[in-house]
Amino acid sequence: MKPEQKNIHIQYTVHKRNGESISEKLPIMKAAEDTVKNAYAPYSGFKVGAAVLLEDGRIVSGSNQENAAYPSGLCAERVALFTAASHFPDKKIETIAVAAEDRNGNPTPVTPCGSCRQVMLEYETKQHQPIEILLAGPDQTILQFNGTEALLPMGFKTSQLK
Ligand code: THU
Repeated sequence: MKPEQKNIHIQYTVHKRNGESISEKLPIMKAAEDTVKNAYAPYSGFKVGAAVLLEDGRIVSGSNQENAAYPSGLCAERVALFTAASHFPDKKIETIAVAAEDRNGNPTPVTPCGSCRQVMLEYETKQHQPIEILLAGPDQTILQFNGTEALLPMGFKTSQLK
């Protein structure tokens, strides 16, 4: 008998940055872009800003912070998420927006690393609500994901520890 083959369907929306469909979300993306300038990225030259929108409308942002001992640095997404969770542990995270600049200071597309996706999944599980993810995409687009499922299919969750 042939082994069963399964497919995972991943869905996300590609918005034109100046389009009507994303206009409401531009402030949170702008907050991520504004935070790029605070990145400390002397080793990679890749500057990232992330902004987290909480349920009360508060925005908490973070940028990547590198270190001469490379693994000691942290991505912008986790800086923002951990800061938000440290200061406002009971506020649900509605959205995280991520933007980046290359070493020449030009805006460049960015997708979160695996560890950051895992951290997003953890907070989704904690708050029983998906987190909307907005990523600066190519050609003046913003990619919108309704939860981490599409970015981290079959992710490891706390429920598996029981
Ligand atoms: N980085 C982030 O901060 N977020 C991402 O989504 C991708 C990568 C950082 C880590 C490191 O400081 C630099 O970008 C290059 O990998």
